[in-house]
Amino acid sequence: MSDLISSTLVPLIYLLSAVLFILGLKRLGRVRTARSGNTIASTAMLLAVLGTLLDMGQVDYRFIIAGVILGGLVGGIAAVKVEMTSMPEMVALFNGFGGAASALVALAVVWQELVETGSVDSAASVIGGSQAVTVGLSILIGALTLSGSLIAFLKLQGKLKRGQPIMLPGRHVINALLGIGAVVLVGQFAYQTGGGAEQPALMLTLVSLALGVLLVIPIGGADMPVVVSLLNSYSGMAASATGFVLGNNLLIISGALVGASGLILTQIMCVAMNRSLLNVLVGGFGEDGGGGGGDEEYSNVTSCGAEEAAMLLETAESVVVVPGYGLAVAQAQHAVREMADLLIARGCKVTYAIHPVAGRMPGHMNVLLAEADVPYEQLLEMDVINPEFKSTDVSIVLGANDVVNPAALSDKSSPIYGMPILNVHDSRSVFVVKRSLSPGYAGIKNTLFEHDNTTMIFGDAKKVLQDVINELKSL
Ligand code: TAP
Repeated sequence: MSDLISSTLVPLIYLLSAVLFILGLKRLGRVRTARSGNTIASTAMLLAVLGTLLDMGQVDYRFIIAGVILGGLVGGIAAVKVEMTSMPEMVALFNGFGGAASALVALAVVWQELVETGSVDSAASVIGGSQAVTVGLSILIGALTLSGSLIAFLKLQGKLKRGQPIMLPGRHVINALLGIGAVVLVGQFAYQTGGGAEQPALMLTLVSLALGVLLVIPIGGADMPVVVSLLNSYSGMAASATGFVLGNNLLIISGALVGASGLILTQIMCVAMNRSLLNVLVGGFGEDGGGGGGDEEYSNVTSCGAEEAAMLLETAESVVVVPGYGLAVAQAQHAVREMADLLIARGCKVTYAIHPVAGRMPGHMNVLLAEADVPYEQLLEMDVINPEFKSTDVSIVLGANDVVNPAALSDKSSPIYGMPILNVHDSRSVFVVKRSLSPGYAGIKNTLFEHDNTTMIFGDAKKVLQDVINELKSL
């Protein structure tokens, strides 16, 4: 009976789970199907856990139940309590835990197969050459992912030098030496004879932890979402390597899926910011003093209040709403929906322009607007909406800054030069709603604020929108 379970039932469960992971991932690619994608992927994970328990046969279920309760509690509380704006931090922590799990499983194999048996043979001859190297790689990538993710978490929270890059002198040389040291230790662990395999394994853990810290500290807090996505990919690779160590096909497949999708996401973010991955990883972007863009640098800025804005919006036939990070901070998604409904009821065409890196994580604006049940068909991607701005009466920019900065098109010295932007400046009139003239994520002046067709409305996005709604209702 137990043979039948291991030889037939478990592989079937694993196969079903792998197919569901792939389907779930595919559905996560679109806002409309993302919820069901999440459910499908969660079901796949449940099947994977059940299959693994069946495969292991005799297990102490007390530990499993305790783990399920503890993990369920932490995950449940986090899911309810964590704000949308803090999602990158949560993902960073989850990646770190994934890396730690892979490294711990690999270290457990070291202890079980080599230390407890008191073996004097090399790891390669006890567990096989490729297995031994894979154990080393699991430790290396897992520990690096853990420490790198914890640093990313602290940076996103602004706790390490307020998220600013920390540039150690000679850091490239130190990193190169640590990297070479890690590779040597993997080899030593795999092929050293005479016992004591735990020493290179533990040393490798320490070197990899140090490498994770040093690789992430020079990167500015604002680039952290890219780093988090890259670390996500690393955690997948570590899991996949662990799958080889344990001989678990499902772990190999699911780890590879995470690794590949993390890499693709990293690439998408870099392209949307017009930065190379190397440029992000070498770090220093957003360093102190590189910014500017305070009030004193602007001239020819005009501003108005909610009443004036409402009067223009009332007569507009087409309005494009441009959401940005500030909309998420202000939690103004419901207010923006209410304003749009009022305008649509008056016969105005309202659409939302979605920049791929608006906000602080991929799909940030889509998720935010979905929370307020904004119909998907009103959300237009950058390539679709850009040609439309020329025939748009009013664009209303809500807490967005860098993604509408025309300096990206014309100023070769700008750090964001070449980044594709939403061409709101082409509209007949532009309202920019933000609290001050202070810069956005890139820390630079926004020339849009000085355009003749731009009017600033200073204030919190939610408060301004509520005032505009009241004015529209009274007109
Ligand atoms: P940002 O350029 O960061 O600008 C956000 C603006 O929101 C700020 O200038 C701020 O101005 C305003 N703001 C903050 N709180 C507000 C509130 N309560 N009410 C109204 N306004 C408020 O935002 P963006 O245009 O969305 O651009 C995103 C940036 O993040 C890009 O540079 C992008 O490259 C970067 N980035 C994005 C991602 C992803 S995946 N989305 C990943 C990494 C980096 P005030 O302080 O004056 O109000």
